[in-house]
Amino acid sequence: MSARINPSILSADFVNFERDFNSISNADLIHVDVMDNHFVPNLTFGLPMVARMQQITPKPLDIHLMIESPDRWAPGYAEAGAFSVTFHAEAAESPVKLARTLRSIGARAGLAIEPGTAIDSYLEVLAEFDQILVMTVEPGFGGQSLIEDTLSKVAAVRRKVDAEKLDVWLQVDGGIDETNIERVAKLGADTFVAGSAVFKAEDRQAQIDNLRSLAASGIAHRH
Ligand code: DX5
Ligand code: ZN
Repeated sequence: MSARINPSILSADFVNFERDFNSISNADLIHVDVMDNHFVPNLTFGLPMVARMQQITPKPLDIHLMIESPDRWAPGYAEAGAFSVTFHAEAAESPVKLARTLRSIGARAGLAIEPGTAIDSYLEVLAEFDQILVMTVEPGFGGQSLIEDTLSKVAAVRRKVDAEKLDVWLQVDGGIDETNIERVAKLGADTFVAGSAVFKAEDRQAQIDNLRSLAASGIAHRH
């Protein structure tokens, strides 16, 4: 299993996305945070911007929808060609139905879980998704510190995915950096969103390689 590093462009320069995409060309996917100022108290951009991003980069886009009514809005991102579309369990009316819709359009379907949301009831429907995003900070802003309590959910999802041999990626998002990525990988994550840790680095590509090799070491030392 390889480690994927998905830089979050929440920490990029919002009027220089094309330049900033080029600065992370060794990323596995580009993580795109869509916020509606209702589900979270912050606002970024919507479908027209994301559709345009899709046109200017060959990289797969990993869309993280922090919006209300994803049942209504998420399919549009899949139709625009997004590689993966992740919506929040707390916001969706019918998560399984929405995941099936996203997959039928051709996108990978992701389910995101806030720090305060228990994972238990979602473990039963993991196979309906291509990835689970365990939020390691409260969604809304970059540059926060990882909340340690969320890591028990990473371990729980890993146990279930391994026990049932599911093909489900386990993503973490929030406060991931070179000080903790190896430990979080060892607990079970395989896909790592990093915003400030990548964009603040003097050499972003070197930082992506560094994070990926630390994560790979954590994965290799799982037991
Ligand atoms: C937060 C977003 C994250 C954010 C992570 O709500 O979902 O993707 O950009 O930023 P860092 O890595 O700086 O915590
Ligand atoms: Zn995110």
